[in-house]
Amino acid sequence: MAKPNKRLLRRFASDWMAEHWRLFALGALFSAITAIAVASYGLMVKTGLDWLSATEYGQSDVKIPLLNIVVPSGKMIWLLPCAVIGFATIRSISLYVQTILNNSAVQKGLVSVQDALFSRLIEGDYKRLTAAASGEFVSQFINDMNLVREAALRIATNLIKGVLTVLACVITMFWYDWALALMVLVVYPIAFAPVVEIGNRLRKVSKAAQQQTGEMTALLNEGFQGGRTSKAFNLEEYQNARAHAGFMERARLYLKVLRSKALVDPLLEIVGGAALAGVFAFTGWRIMNGEATVGDFGGFIAAIGAASPEVRALGTLNAVANEGLAAIERIYAVLDAPDEVADKPNAKTIVDVKGGLKFENVSFSYGDQSVLNGLNFSAKPGETIALVGPSGAGKSTVFNLALRFFDVSDGNVKLDGADIRDLQRQSLRNQMSLVSQDAFLFDDTIRTNIALGKMDATEAEILAAMDAAACEFVHDLPEGLDTQAGEGGRNLSGGQRQRIAIARAILKNSPILLLDEATSALDAASEAKVQKALENLSKGRTTLIIAHRLSTVRSADKIFVFDQGQVVEEGNHETLMQNDSAYADLVKLQVSN
Ligand SMILES: Nc1ncnc2c1ncn2[C@@H]1O[C@H](COP(=O)(O)OP(=O)(O)OP(=O)(O)O)[C@@H](O)[C@H]1O
Ligand SMILES: [Mg+2]
Repeated sequence: MAKPNKRLLRRFASDWMAEHWRLFALGALFSAITAIAVASYGLMVKTGLDWLSATEYGQSDVKIPLLNIVVPSGKMIWLLPCAVIGFATIRSISLYVQTILNNSAVQKGLVSVQDALFSRLIEGDYKRLTAAASGEFVSQFINDMNLVREAALRIATNLIKGVLTVLACVITMFWYDWALALMVLVVYPIAFAPVVEIGNRLRKVSKAAQQQTGEMTALLNEGFQGGRTSKAFNLEEYQNARAHAGFMERARLYLKVLRSKALVDPLLEIVGGAALAGVFAFTGWRIMNGEATVGDFGGFIAAIGAASPEVRALGTLNAVANEGLAAIERIYAVLDAPDEVADKPNAKTIVDVKGGLKFENVSFSYGDQSVLNGLNFSAKPGETIALVGPSGAGKSTVFNLALRFFDVSDGNVKLDGADIRDLQRQSLRNQMSLVSQDAFLFDDTIRTNIALGKMDATEAEILAAMDAAACEFVHDLPEGLDTQAGEGGRNLSGGQRQRIAIARAILKNSPILLLDEATSALDAASEAKVQKALENLSKGRTTLIIAHRLSTVRSADKIFVFDQGQVVEEGNHETLMQNDSAYADLVKLQVSN
């Protein structure tokens, strides 16, 4: 296990952090300055204590350690406090600068990680987006990023500062009393073994905790978005119970992680206590034998005091780093997962297709659920064809396949005779305008929502598209085109959303039009108008219409009746009515209602 993780860490560092090495290097420099300033405390304590005991015994001179100069006792009264203040100032400034530098580097790196993760998800496979709960992705951006940030910062900050401080303290300790220093050095590492073990255990538990956080995010999202349904059905209790179960599970996993984590500090506390006891006993004995001074003792204690927080931080660093590593693992799992639906290396870029669309013997299933079974139909360039049939028959799925959100499991889909798997996906989708059944809008202005069909559209083009899609209602909104659509478009009515989505598709002006229940939510007057506009629009374009309301497909060149993933009947309205079979039955049913 250890090796691949190390490799992952190296990969993470070189992918995202290495480019900010200048900031990290400067941070390290200031870490070193901080470390030296901290270690100097011990020296000052030793000097101070030696001075005080010298003064107590009536001696007039004090030897300054390291510098090896002799200072008259009277001068020490201002020299020492000045030195203490000087070093404290250096230490605080360098600490501050180091913190800012390391944070800047890590934040910059994390922006790139988030960019990469987001675009990987958005540009990647549609299948993956629909396969996992969206909360899991959200949680990756919030929780995993926090864990990585914490780990990267701790490594950048604690590792260098900690190691250097401990090193500087250890060196001064050896200088005071090598035998004592040796003793402390032996005790510490023995005590560290369990701390490292805890870090490893933590990684496994934190994985489960993260997964659960993803589920929680999804649950909360759903809870707030489903407000309308939950109120209408008095589902507050049901919602509360679902959320409560999630909260309980979260608490359980949190405590599980904490039980390991909480051991680290007490363990280190014991080690610190043992070290202090040892120093008392040993130095006391040496001072009694005249082999050490009170200053040595003080300096030693000060050095341990200065090194202890750093040792403690280094002790917990392993645990934090392991949590960060788990998050990095999850991030790379997303980044590295291959797309099932991907462009071939030599995929052809298409422009201005004629628009012949053909499904040949297409079978398809979502996972285990088979939806299409040997489906055959085709639309000649410029033709308008309609797909009708019962709910769940697989009509919207046909659009998903035409746009290549998924690949067929058998048979093929051809555009102008070319298998769409040989075409570059973006260029394929550029040829098609979809008005989807859910008429999804982004939480942006209505203007932007329409302009998404053609990013460089002029105001006149936007207005023309709106006019064709019967969007006059927009002008009556308080902020007109600049009205915010709300999350998913919830500030607008279903029919209004549909008309915006149609305006967007009209603006896109592509050779193939895919209309999935595009006018289902409109009133009769708006529908008549939009229908007219769509009919105009469909002239010279291949148009596929899915509709339950059969009056809207009457004029289609060809109608395909779907059932259970197959075409059971085809023809135009007149021939199908003469057949007096499935389609005729549906029409009669709708008319009689
Ligand atoms: N993303 C998905 N994952 C799994 N199953 C799906 C998915 N989308 C649709 N299905 C299933 O595929 C079947 C066909 O769905 P599809 O949306 O194509 O039906 P439809 O003919 O458009 O129905 P409707 O008229 O109600 O819109 C349904 O049984 C549905 O449960
Ligand atoms: Mg559908």
